[in-house]
Amino acid sequence: MDKIILITGGAGFIGSHVVRHFVKKYPDYRVINFDKLTYAGYLGNLSDIESAPNYTFIKGDICDAEHVERLLSAEAITHILHLAAESHVDRSILDPIGFVRTNVLGTATLLNAAKDVWKGQMEGKLFYHVSTDEVFGSLGTHGSFSETTAYDPHSPYSASKASSDHFVRAYHDTYGLPILISNCSNNYGTHQFPEKLIPLIIRNIRDKKPLPVYGKGENVRDWLWVNDHVRAIDILLHEGKAGFTYCIGGNNEWKNIDLVRLLCSIMDGELNQPEGAAASLITFVTDRPGHDMRYAIDATKIMAETDWKPTQDFRMALTDTVRWYLANPQWIEAVTSGEYQHYYERQYAGR
Ligand code: NAD
Ligand code: DAU
Repeated sequence: MDKIILITGGAGFIGSHVVRHFVKKYPDYRVINFDKLTYAGYLGNLSDIESAPNYTFIKGDICDAEHVERLLSAEAITHILHLAAESHVDRSILDPIGFVRTNVLGTATLLNAAKDVWKGQMEGKLFYHVSTDEVFGSLGTHGSFSETTAYDPHSPYSASKASSDHFVRAYHDTYGLPILISNCSNNYGTHQFPEKLIPLIIRNIRDKKPLPVYGKGENVRDWLWVNDHVRAIDILLHEGKAGFTYCIGGNNEWKNIDLVRLLCSIMDGELNQPEGAAASLITFVTDRPGHDMRYAIDATKIMAETDWKPTQDFRMALTDTVRWYLANPQWIEAVTSGEYQHYYERQYAGR
Protein backbone atom coordinates (compact mmCIF):
# COMPACT_ATOMS: atom_id res chain seq x y z
CA MET A 1 0.00 0.00 0.00
CA ASP A 2 1.25 3.43 -0.99
CA LYS A 3 -0.20 5.33 1.96
CA ILE A 4 -2.01 4.02 5.02
CA ILE A 5 -4.32 6.79 6.16
CA LEU A 6 -6.11 6.95 9.48
CA ILE A 7 -9.13 9.25 9.13
CA THR A 8 -10.62 10.22 12.49
CA GLY A 9 -14.28 11.26 12.57
CA GLY A 10 -14.90 9.59 9.21
CA ALA A 11 -18.55 8.80 10.01
CA GLY A 12 -19.45 12.48 10.40
CA PHE A 13 -20.42 15.09 7.82
CA ILE A 14 -17.10 16.19 6.30
CA GLY A 15 -15.30 13.01 7.39
CA SER A 16 -17.64 10.74 5.43
CA HIS A 17 -17.09 12.80 2.26
CA VAL A 18 -13.31 12.63 2.87
CA VAL A 19 -13.40 8.85 3.42
CA ARG A 20 -15.47 8.23 0.27
CA HIS A 21 -13.18 10.47 -1.80
CA PHE A 22 -9.95 8.75 -0.72
CA VAL A 23 -11.38 5.21 -0.92
CA LYS A 24 -12.65 5.76 -4.48
CA LYS A 25 -9.84 7.89 -5.86
CA TYR A 26 -6.89 6.01 -4.40
CA PRO A 27 -7.38 2.22 -4.57
CA ASP A 28 -3.67 1.84 -3.67
CA TYR A 29 -4.11 3.65 -0.36
CA ARG A 30 -5.51 1.91 2.69
CA VAL A 31 -8.15 4.02 4.46
CA ILE A 32 -8.98 3.33 8.10
CA ASN A 33 -11.94 5.23 9.51
CA PHE A 34 -11.63 5.63 13.30
CA ASP A 35 -14.80 7.02 14.85
CA LYS A 36 -16.51 6.88 18.23
CA LEU A 37 -19.95 7.09 16.59
CA THR A 38 -21.30 9.87 18.78
CA TYR A 39 -24.73 11.33 17.95
CA ALA A 40 -22.99 12.98 14.95
CA GLY A 41 -21.41 9.83 13.53
CA TYR A 42 -23.55 7.63 11.26
CA LEU A 43 -22.07 4.67 9.40
CA GLY A 44 -25.01 4.70 6.97
CA ASN A 45 -23.25 7.74 5.43
CA LEU A 46 -20.70 5.28 4.00
CA SER A 47 -22.90 2.34 2.98
CA ASP A 48 -21.84 2.74 -0.67
CA ILE A 49 -18.15 2.07 0.06
CA GLU A 50 -18.30 -0.06 3.23
CA SER A 51 -17.17 -3.23 1.45
CA ALA A 52 -14.39 -1.64 -0.63
CA PRO A 53 -11.18 -3.70 -0.27
CA ASN A 54 -9.09 -0.68 0.76
CA TYR A 55 -11.51 0.46 3.52
CA THR A 56 -11.78 -0.52 7.19
CA PHE A 57 -13.91 0.93 9.98
CA ILE A 58 -12.75 0.79 13.59
CA LYS A 59 -14.94 2.07 16.40
CA GLY A 60 -12.90 3.97 18.97
CA ASP A 61 -12.32 7.14 20.94
CA ILE A 62 -9.42 9.49 20.15
CA CYS A 63 -9.07 10.05 23.92
CA ASP A 64 -8.21 6.35 24.40
CA ALA A 65 -4.39 6.57 24.32
CA GLU A 66 -3.77 2.83 24.50
CA HIS A 67 -6.15 2.07 21.60
CA VAL A 68 -4.82 4.87 19.42
CA GLU A 69 -1.16 3.93 19.97
CA ARG A 70 -1.83 0.23 19.31
CA LEU A 71 -3.65 1.10 16.09
CA LEU A 72 -0.95 3.42 14.76
CA SER A 73 1.73 0.83 15.23
CA ALA A 74 -0.24 -2.34 14.31
CA GLU A 75 -1.54 -0.81 11.05
CA ALA A 76 1.73 1.02 10.22
CA ILE A 77 -0.20 4.26 9.70
CA THR A 78 1.67 6.77 7.52
CA HIS A 79 -0.86 9.65 7.50
CA ILE A 80 -3.39 10.85 10.07
CA LEU A 81 -6.24 12.98 8.75
CA HIS A 82 -7.77 14.28 11.95
CA LEU A 83 -11.40 15.41 11.70
CA ALA A 84 -12.94 13.87 14.84
CA ALA A 85 -14.36 16.63 17.01
CA GLU A 86 -17.38 17.96 18.77
CA SER A 87 -18.33 20.46 16.07
CA HIS A 88 -21.49 22.38 17.01
CA VAL A 89 -21.13 25.82 18.63
CA ASP A 90 -24.53 25.73 20.37
CA ARG A 91 -23.73 22.39 21.99
CA SER A 92 -20.41 23.81 23.20
CA ILE A 93 -22.36 26.50 25.04
CA LEU A 94 -24.50 23.81 26.73
CA ASP A 95 -21.59 21.41 27.47
CA PRO A 96 -18.18 23.10 27.22
CA ILE A 97 -16.23 20.40 29.05
CA GLY A 98 -17.22 17.73 26.53
CA PHE A 99 -15.55 19.93 23.89
CA VAL A 100 -12.39 20.28 25.95
CA ARG A 101 -12.25 16.51 26.32
CA THR A 102 -12.68 15.57 22.67
CA ASN A 103 -11.16 18.53 20.86
CA VAL A 104 -8.23 19.32 23.18
CA LEU A 105 -7.47 16.11 25.08
CA GLY A 106 -8.40 13.92 22.10
CA THR A 107 -6.14 15.84 19.71
CA ALA A 108 -3.27 15.86 22.22
CA THR A 109 -3.72 12.12 22.74
CA LEU A 110 -3.48 11.49 18.99
CA LEU A 111 -0.45 13.76 18.65
CA ASN A 112 1.30 12.01 21.50
CA ALA A 113 0.66 8.59 20.02
CA ALA A 114 1.99 9.75 16.63
CA LYS A 115 5.11 11.23 18.29
CA ASP A 116 5.83 7.96 20.10
CA VAL A 117 5.01 5.53 17.30
CA TRP A 118 6.73 7.58 14.56
CA LYS A 119 9.80 8.36 16.68
CA GLY A 120 12.98 8.13 14.59
CA GLN A 121 10.95 7.52 11.41
CA MET A 122 9.11 10.78 10.70
CA GLU A 123 10.08 10.71 6.98
CA GLY A 124 6.98 10.16 4.80
CA LYS A 125 4.60 10.71 7.73
CA LEU A 126 2.01 13.49 8.15
CA PHE A 127 -0.39 14.58 10.89
CA TYR A 128 -3.02 16.65 9.05
CA HIS A 129 -5.29 18.58 11.42
CA VAL A 130 -8.61 19.80 10.02
CA SER A 131 -9.53 23.04 11.76
CA THR A 132 -11.87 25.96 11.42
CA ASP A 133 -11.89 29.68 10.63
CA GLU A 134 -13.68 30.22 13.98
CA VAL A 135 -10.30 30.20 15.78
CA PHE A 136 -9.69 33.70 14.35
CA GLY A 137 -12.73 35.22 16.07
CA SER A 138 -15.02 37.75 14.46
CA LEU A 139 -14.57 40.29 11.64
CA GLY A 140 -16.15 43.71 11.24
CA THR A 141 -17.61 44.74 7.90
CA HIS A 142 -14.23 44.66 6.09
CA GLY A 143 -11.26 42.36 5.73
CA SER A 144 -10.80 38.60 5.90
CA PHE A 145 -8.91 35.94 7.84
CA SER A 146 -5.60 34.65 6.53
CA GLU A 147 -2.82 32.38 7.78
CA THR A 148 -1.26 35.28 9.71
CA THR A 149 -4.41 36.41 11.54
CA ALA A 150 -4.02 36.25 15.34
CA TYR A 151 -6.19 33.73 17.17
CA ASP A 152 -9.16 35.23 19.05
CA PRO A 153 -11.77 32.51 19.73
CA HIS A 154 -15.02 33.36 21.51
CA SER A 155 -17.09 30.19 21.93
CA PRO A 156 -16.08 27.10 23.89
CA TYR A 157 -16.05 25.27 20.52
CA SER A 158 -13.68 27.72 18.85
CA ALA A 159 -11.53 27.97 22.00
CA SER A 160 -11.18 24.17 22.02
CA LYS A 161 -10.28 24.11 18.31
CA ALA A 162 -7.78 26.98 18.81
CA SER A 163 -6.21 25.05 21.67
CA SER A 164 -5.97 21.92 19.53
CA ASP A 165 -4.27 23.94 16.74
CA HIS A 166 -1.72 25.22 19.28
CA PHE A 167 -0.99 21.66 20.43
CA VAL A 168 -0.47 20.56 16.84
CA ARG A 169 2.08 23.36 16.26
CA ALA A 170 3.74 22.66 19.61
CA TYR A 171 4.30 19.00 18.62
CA HIS A 172 5.88 20.19 15.38
CA ASP A 173 8.14 22.75 17.02
CA THR A 174 9.09 20.59 20.02
CA TYR A 175 9.27 17.04 18.64
CA GLY A 176 9.62 17.63 14.90
CA LEU A 177 6.27 15.97 14.16
CA PRO A 178 5.39 16.60 10.48
CA ILE A 179 2.08 18.45 10.69
CA LEU A 180 -0.22 20.50 8.51
CA ILE A 181 -3.25 22.54 9.59
CA SER A 182 -6.05 23.85 7.43
CA ASN A 183 -8.62 26.35 8.70
CA CYS A 184 -11.81 26.20 6.67
CA SER A 185 -14.99 28.26 6.51
CA ASN A 186 -18.59 26.94 6.84
CA ASN A 187 -19.26 23.81 4.78
CA TYR A 188 -22.58 22.80 3.25
CA GLY A 189 -23.72 19.72 1.36
CA THR A 190 -25.29 16.31 1.81
CA HIS A 191 -25.07 14.30 5.07
CA GLN A 192 -24.70 17.35 7.35
CA PHE A 193 -26.27 16.79 10.74
CA PRO A 194 -29.57 18.77 10.92
CA GLU A 195 -28.46 20.74 13.98
CA LYS A 196 -26.49 23.03 11.61
CA LEU A 197 -28.22 26.01 9.97
CA ILE A 198 -28.78 24.80 6.39
CA PRO A 199 -30.16 21.27 7.02
CA LEU A 200 -32.09 22.53 10.06
CA ILE A 201 -33.87 25.16 7.95
CA ILE A 202 -34.57 22.66 5.14
CA ARG A 203 -36.04 20.15 7.60
CA ASN A 204 -38.16 22.76 9.37
CA ILE A 205 -39.57 24.12 6.10
CA ARG A 206 -40.42 20.56 5.08
CA ASP A 207 -42.17 20.02 8.43
CA LYS A 208 -43.78 23.52 8.43
CA LYS A 209 -42.07 24.39 11.72
CA PRO A 210 -40.69 27.81 12.76
CA LEU A 211 -37.33 28.73 11.18
CA PRO A 212 -35.22 30.01 14.11
CA VAL A 213 -32.95 32.90 13.04
CA TYR A 214 -30.65 34.06 15.83
CA GLY A 215 -30.74 37.79 16.67
CA LYS A 216 -31.49 39.88 13.58
CA GLY A 217 -29.96 37.40 11.15
CA GLU A 218 -27.22 39.92 10.29
CA ASN A 219 -24.29 37.57 11.01
CA VAL A 220 -22.25 36.62 7.97
CA ARG A 221 -20.72 33.25 7.08
CA ASP A 222 -18.52 32.24 4.10
CA TRP A 223 -20.06 29.05 2.64
CA LEU A 224 -18.04 26.37 0.86
CA TRP A 225 -19.36 23.21 -0.80
CA VAL A 226 -18.13 20.26 1.25
CA ASN A 227 -16.59 18.50 -1.76
CA ASP A 228 -14.51 21.58 -2.53
CA HIS A 229 -13.18 21.32 1.04
CA VAL A 230 -12.47 17.62 0.47
CA ARG A 231 -10.53 18.40 -2.71
CA ALA A 232 -8.49 20.99 -0.84
CA ILE A 233 -7.66 18.40 1.85
CA ASP A 234 -6.58 15.90 -0.83
CA ILE A 235 -4.34 18.48 -2.54
CA LEU A 236 -2.79 19.69 0.74
CA LEU A 237 -2.15 16.14 1.98
CA HIS A 238 -0.11 15.54 -1.19
CA GLU A 239 1.33 18.98 -1.96
CA GLY A 240 1.10 21.07 1.23
CA LYS A 241 4.28 22.09 3.03
CA ALA A 242 4.68 20.31 6.36
CA GLY A 243 4.76 22.64 9.34
CA PHE A 244 2.43 25.16 7.68
CA THR A 245 -1.14 26.38 7.84
CA TYR A 246 -3.55 26.93 4.95
CA CYS A 247 -6.83 28.87 4.97
CA ILE A 248 -9.67 27.45 2.84
CA GLY A 249 -12.86 29.36 2.02
CA GLY A 250 -15.62 29.77 -0.51
CA ASN A 251 -15.31 33.52 -1.23
CA ASN A 252 -19.07 33.31 -0.75
CA GLU A 253 -20.34 35.50 2.08
CA TRP A 254 -23.99 35.46 3.07
CA LYS A 255 -25.93 37.15 5.85
CA ASN A 256 -27.88 34.44 7.67
CA ILE A 257 -31.22 36.05 6.93
CA ASP A 258 -30.45 36.30 3.19
CA LEU A 259 -29.35 32.66 3.13
CA VAL A 260 -32.51 31.57 4.96
CA ARG A 261 -34.62 33.57 2.46
CA LEU A 262 -32.77 31.93 -0.45
CA LEU A 263 -33.46 28.50 1.07
CA CYS A 264 -37.13 29.46 1.49
CA SER A 265 -37.38 30.42 -2.15
CA ILE A 266 -35.68 27.21 -3.33
CA MET A 267 -37.90 25.12 -1.04
CA ASP A 268 -41.11 26.85 -2.24
CA GLY A 269 -40.14 25.77 -5.76
CA GLU A 270 -39.20 22.22 -4.79
CA LEU A 271 -42.38 21.72 -2.72
CA ASN A 272 -44.63 23.37 -5.35
CA GLN A 273 -46.00 25.82 -2.83
CA PRO A 274 -46.73 29.55 -3.30
CA GLU A 275 -43.67 31.84 -3.19
CA GLY A 276 -43.51 33.25 0.36
CA ALA A 277 -45.00 30.21 2.10
CA ALA A 278 -41.70 29.06 3.59
CA ALA A 279 -40.56 32.60 4.47
CA SER A 280 -43.71 33.06 6.56
CA LEU A 281 -42.15 30.55 8.99
CA ILE A 282 -39.10 32.77 9.70
CA THR A 283 -38.92 33.50 13.44
CA PHE A 284 -36.29 35.75 14.98
CA VAL A 285 -35.17 34.20 18.27
CA THR A 286 -32.79 35.09 21.11
CA ASP A 287 -29.26 35.46 19.82
CA ARG A 288 -26.48 32.91 20.39
CA PRO A 289 -24.31 34.16 23.31
CA GLY A 290 -20.93 35.41 22.07
CA HIS A 291 -22.19 35.15 18.48
CA ASP A 292 -19.36 35.98 16.03
CA MET A 293 -20.59 38.65 13.59
CA ARG A 294 -18.70 37.81 10.42
CA TYR A 295 -16.31 35.19 9.03
CA ALA A 296 -14.54 35.49 5.67
CA ILE A 297 -11.47 33.66 4.40
CA ASP A 298 -8.70 34.94 2.18
CA ALA A 299 -7.68 31.72 0.39
CA THR A 300 -4.90 33.34 -1.66
CA LYS A 301 -2.16 31.06 -0.29
CA ILE A 302 -3.68 27.71 -1.23
CA MET A 303 -4.79 29.11 -4.60
CA ALA A 304 -1.28 30.46 -5.31
CA GLU A 305 0.59 27.31 -4.24
CA THR A 306 -1.78 24.74 -5.78
CA ASP A 307 -4.46 24.59 -8.47
CA TRP A 308 -7.29 24.47 -5.90
CA LYS A 309 -10.21 26.87 -6.12
CA PRO A 310 -13.89 26.65 -5.17
CA THR A 311 -15.86 25.20 -8.09
CA GLN A 312 -19.54 25.52 -7.32
CA ASP A 313 -22.23 28.00 -8.24
CA PHE A 314 -23.83 28.50 -4.79
CA ARG A 315 -27.47 28.60 -5.87
CA MET A 316 -27.13 25.45 -7.96
CA ALA A 317 -25.18 23.49 -5.35
CA LEU A 318 -27.60 24.62 -2.65
CA THR A 319 -30.54 23.46 -4.79
CA ASP A 320 -28.85 20.06 -5.24
CA THR A 321 -28.30 19.95 -1.47
CA VAL A 322 -31.98 20.74 -0.80
CA ARG A 323 -33.01 17.99 -3.25
CA TRP A 324 -30.80 15.44 -1.48
CA TYR A 325 -32.42 16.16 1.92
CA LEU A 326 -35.91 16.02 0.42
CA ALA A 327 -35.09 12.73 -1.33
CA ASN A 328 -33.63 11.15 1.82
CA PRO A 329 -36.20 11.58 4.62
CA GLN A 330 -35.13 8.19 6.03
CA TRP A 331 -31.61 9.56 6.54
CA ILE A 332 -32.98 12.57 8.43
CA GLU A 333 -35.16 10.33 10.60
CA ALA A 334 -32.28 7.91 11.29
CA VAL A 335 -29.87 10.58 12.54
CA THR A 336 -32.41 12.69 14.44
CA SER A 337 -34.54 10.03 16.09
CA GLY A 338 -32.51 9.56 19.29
CA GLU A 339 -30.63 12.06 21.43
CA TYR A 340 -31.23 14.91 18.96
CA GLN A 341 -34.89 15.36 19.97
CA HIS A 342 -33.86 16.17 23.55
CA TYR A 343 -31.16 18.53 22.30
CA TYR A 344 -33.62 20.37 20.00
CA GLU A 345 -36.11 20.91 22.83
CA ARG A 346 -33.36 22.14 25.17
CA GLN A 347 -31.77 24.44 22.56
CA TYR A 348 -34.91 26.09 21.15
CA ALA A 349 -37.49 25.96 23.98
CA GLY A 350 -38.28 29.46 25.25
CA ARG A 351 -35.99 31.23 22.75
P1 NAD B 1 -19.43 16.24 12.66
O1 NAD B 1 -19.91 16.67 14.01
O2 NAD B 1 -20.41 16.04 11.57
O3 NAD B 1 -18.63 14.86 12.81
C1 NAD B 1 -17.72 14.63 13.85
C2 NAD B 1 -17.35 13.14 13.83
O4 NAD B 1 -16.38 12.92 14.87
C3 NAD B 1 -18.53 12.21 14.13
O5 NAD B 1 -18.52 11.12 13.23
C4 NAD B 1 -18.27 11.73 15.56
O6 NAD B 1 -18.78 10.44 15.82
C5 NAD B 1 -16.75 11.75 15.60
N1 NAD B 1 -16.22 11.89 16.97
C6 NAD B 1 -16.61 12.78 17.92
N2 NAD B 1 -15.91 12.59 19.05
C7 NAD B 1 -15.05 11.56 18.81
C8 NAD B 1 -14.06 10.91 19.59
N3 NAD B 1 -13.83 11.26 20.87
N4 NAD B 1 -13.35 9.91 19.04
C9 NAD B 1 -13.58 9.53 17.74
N5 NAD B 1 -14.52 10.09 16.97
C10 NAD B 1 -15.25 11.10 17.49
O7 NAD B 1 -18.31 17.28 12.27
P2 NAD B 1 -18.00 17.98 10.85
O8 NAD B 1 -18.88 19.14 10.67
O9 NAD B 1 -17.93 16.93 9.81
O10 NAD B 1 -16.53 18.54 11.14
C11 NAD B 1 -15.40 17.70 10.99
C12 NAD B 1 -14.16 18.49 11.36
O11 NAD B 1 -14.03 19.61 10.51
C13 NAD B 1 -14.17 19.03 12.79
O12 NAD B 1 -12.87 18.94 13.31
C14 NAD B 1 -14.57 20.49 12.62
O13 NAD B 1 -14.03 21.28 13.65
C15 NAD B 1 -13.94 20.81 11.27
N6 NAD B 1 -14.60 21.86 10.49
C16 NAD B 1 -15.95 21.80 10.23
C17 NAD B 1 -16.55 22.77 9.44
C18 NAD B 1 -18.03 22.73 9.11
O14 NAD B 1 -18.53 23.67 8.50
N7 NAD B 1 -18.75 21.67 9.45
C19 NAD B 1 -15.77 23.81 8.91
C20 NAD B 1 -14.41 23.85 9.20
C21 NAD B 1 -13.83 22.85 9.98
O1 DAU C 1 -16.90 28.44 10.26
C1 DAU C 1 -16.69 27.06 10.35
C2 DAU C 1 -17.65 26.49 11.38
O2 DAU C 1 -18.94 26.51 10.79
C3 DAU C 1 -17.29 25.07 11.81
O3 DAU C 1 -16.06 25.09 12.48
C4 DAU C 1 -18.37 24.50 12.75
O4 DAU C 1 -18.07 23.16 13.05
C5 DAU C 1 -19.70 24.58 12.03
O5 DAU C 1 -20.72 24.14 12.92
C6 DAU C 1 -19.99 26.01 11.58
O6 DAU C 1 -20.22 26.88 12.72
P1 DAU C 1 -21.38 27.99 12.72
O7 DAU C 1 -21.74 28.32 14.11
O8 DAU C 1 -21.05 29.11 11.80
O9 DAU C 1 -22.56 27.12 11.99
P2 DAU C 1 -24.12 26.95 12.32
O10 DAU C 1 -24.69 26.17 11.18
O11 DAU C 1 -24.36 26.46 13.70
O12 DAU C 1 -24.66 28.44 12.24
C7 DAU C 1 -24.48 29.23 11.07
C8 DAU C 1 -25.02 30.61 11.38
O13 DAU C 1 -26.44 30.51 11.53
C9 DAU C 1 -24.51 31.20 12.66
O14 DAU C 1 -24.33 32.59 12.52
C10 DAU C 1 -25.62 30.92 13.69
C11 DAU C 1 -26.87 30.96 12.82
N1 DAU C 1 -27.96 30.04 13.27
C12 DAU C 1 -27.67 28.74 13.50
C13 DAU C 1 -28.65 27.86 13.91
C14 DAU C 1 -28.32 26.41 14.20
C15 DAU C 1 -29.26 30.53 13.37
O15 DAU C 1 -29.52 31.72 13.12
N2 DAU C 1 -30.24 29.66 13.77
C16 DAU C 1 -30.00 28.34 14.06
O16 DAU C 1 -30.94 27.60 14.44
